[in-house]
Amino acid sequence: MISPKDIQRFKEIKTPFYFYNLALLEETLQVVKKASNPYNYHVHYALKANSNNKILTLIQSYGFGADCVSGNEIKKAIECNFPASSIAFAGVGKSDEEINIALDNEIFCFNCESIPEMEVINELAKAKNKIATIALRINPNVNAKTHHYITTGLEENKFGINPWEFETVIETLKKLTHLKLIGLHFHIGSQITDLNVFKGLCLRVNEIQEWFYNHQIIVEHINVGGGLGVNYENPEQSPIPDFEAFFGLFHQFLQLRPQQHLHFELGRSIVAQCGNLITKVLYVKKGLNTSFMILDAGMTELIRPALYQASHSIKNLTSTSKTTERYDVVGPICESSDCFAKALLLPTTVRGDIIAIQTAGAYGEVMASRYNLRDLVTAHYSF
Ligand code: LLP
Repeated sequence: MISPKDIQRFKEIKTPFYFYNLALLEETLQVVKKASNPYNYHVHYALKANSNNKILTLIQSYGFGADCVSGNEIKKAIECNFPASSIAFAGVGKSDEEINIALDNEIFCFNCESIPEMEVINELAKAKNKIATIALRINPNVNAKTHHYITTGLEENKFGINPWEFETVIETLKKLTHLKLIGLHFHIGSQITDLNVFKGLCLRVNEIQEWFYNHQIIVEHINVGGGLGVNYENPEQSPIPDFEAFFGLFHQFLQLRPQQHLHFELGRSIVAQCGNLITKVLYVKKGLNTSFMILDAGMTELIRPALYQASHSIKNLTSTSKTTERYDVVGPICESSDCFAKALLLPTTVRGDIIAIQTAGAYGEVMASRYNLRDLVTAHYSF
């Protein structure tokens, strides 16, 4: 995925930086289109995974909608030409200011997570003499079998409305005259690699739909969120996730009523593989059992390993050594959690070698910080 010409170029650029392969992103977008079109599924890109302008502009050009979780993401999506009518707005804690941004722009749908939130949206919509279109984010109690920090669909999680609240929600909605219920929304977690988990979600959605149907509620839109995982261990082997199997599974197991539309909010599966974090080796230092490979990138550029014990494949792009050694690959930040890998076997490495941390296109650049007053990481592209 990184060509010798790219590596030549890296030697001229100040590290660390994100390097995005836009050709791979285009290829991925074509596959998503081809796999979702036969079923007329609507794909909203989850901006939270990567909101880099070039990436957003490219994704928008393929006609996808947007999934936003803040007022600023809504503004950004609109700046990058996503139609407001394709924007879903999710989040357990929408502020009044953010709700007003969404109302002013007449977005497609608020994914509502609680009765108090519905009451506030209703009040703010009323003040503007508008009707807000909403979906209920439902907590389906399906285990995503992923890291507990990115599991969202269990009763114990803060997200969504639980089934025992449905009656009260329906009664409340009757009184909230500035809300229009148009959908049901679900999202159970992220980096889900076992498709059976999504089958479980489909079956649960069918049951929940049945409950609403029995209460004379049929909505036009079902939104099953995102969550499709990617191959972090071996990105070269599967640079594009199996979208055909993913959409095919929903087609097989999710029962839509006539005229109902199915929506997805995909983030990671679209952008993860097109991004690499490119960094230079500052020092190699002898440790107890291994050597420390100290990089000029750390948890400030890519926090996933420190936060979720995530493992990213790491490559030395410039070493020509025939020997290998075990390294603890670490960053320069004053925290022991600033570690990308432990005892990793890599070609013998020296100061100045260029390292790629792969599969970093999702939840990488967007989660970067200026901790230790470091410069905010930059981005470069190949087309
Ligand atoms: N829809 C909702 C309501 C979400 O909360 C998320 C992700 C998505 C869609 C997109 O999910 P995806 O297709 O990307 O899995 N920072 C973590 C991931 C957090 C995911 C948050 N929600 C990580 O680096 O693994």
